[in-house]
Amino acid sequence: MTYEPSEAKIISVKKYAEDVKLFKVKTKINPLPGQFFQLSILGIGECPLASCSYNKKYADVLVKNSGSVTNTLFNLKKGDGVFIRGPYGRGYNFKEIEGKNLVLAAGGTGIAPVASLIDYIEQNRKNFGEIKILFGFKDESFILLGDRIERWKKKFDFTLCLDKYAGKLKYEVGLLPDILKKKKINSENTCGVLCGPEIMMKSATAKLNSVGIKNDKIYWNMERRMECAAGSCGRCLIQDLYTCKDGPVFRYDIIKEKLENESAK
Ligand SMILES: Cc1cc2nc3c(=O)[nH]c(=O)nc-3n(C[C@H](O)[C@H](O)[C@H](O)COP(=O)(O)OP(=O)(O)OC[C@H]3O[C@@H](n4cnc5c(N)ncnc54)[C@H](O)[C@@H]3O)c2cc1C
Ligand code: FES
Repeated sequence: MTYEPSEAKIISVKKYAEDVKLFKVKTKINPLPGQFFQLSILGIGECPLASCSYNKKYADVLVKNSGSVTNTLFNLKKGDGVFIRGPYGRGYNFKEIEGKNLVLAAGGTGIAPVASLIDYIEQNRKNFGEIKILFGFKDESFILLGDRIERWKKKFDFTLCLDKYAGKLKYEVGLLPDILKKKKINSENTCGVLCGPEIMMKSATAKLNSVGIKNDKIYWNMERRMECAAGSCGRCLIQDLYTCKDGPVFRYDIIKEKLENESAK
């Protein structure tokens, strides 16, 4: 693990929504699915980001313009440089999820680590069983990675859920957990992989529990504010667990009580 940032050039920028862009960045620091790196911009600061691709040549960073670093990044273009350190954290535990059927449910920019996992699954398809994917967005103008979604629809059981939609195209309309509730899910040898707002992951977990998928087969991807990203500063603690070091991917049976204690404070 390194704290030393290295410079990485932006290879391309693609706008997906008013406040979300995809930056392809040339770097050898490419996290495993579910891990993250710290991206910094000189004079501004740094923040944790996931890559939504799995490969060793570049990182694809799907960025929501939400504050100081991401706002500055938003104004950068092809050829500009950023700094990256990492990768950090524990991603998806392949020993636990390979050989299983997976239900992947993610919303908004929360699709980033899950997209990296899907990349991994595409490259190692024989290691996994049935793959059911649900991605949720506010409305049509917020659909992210639409080009990849078209590809995934041909390969997997893929559902695109929009909170609101009044047009003619075929989307499922409603909140992602409500759409998940209507899906037929085979619980045998199946794991759930969830990423997005905690309230969404909680409702989706309830649905997975109701069909017999237990908490030790469900993975939550957590976000907390970070500084060191390496288990030293304590900024990212969820009770006694470090989001940066023990997570950001946690098995739900391990994190459930800690989150409940945290919100009871
Ligand atoms: C493991 C991990 C992976 C992530 N991956 C992605 C990703 O792939 N794409 C993505 O877009 N985002 C991702 N995020 C979220 C991203 O890191 C945050 O949104 C980050 O805060 C953006 O940094 P910033 O400097 O642009 O914004 P900030 O300046 O940090 O502001 C972000 C928001 O936090 C608020 N805020 C500022 N300071 C504080 C404070 N002290 N306490 C509470 N709130 C505060 C601001 O008002 C604003 O609403 C990830 C986070 C984690 C932990
Ligand atoms: S960010 Fe410092 S301990 Fe996790």
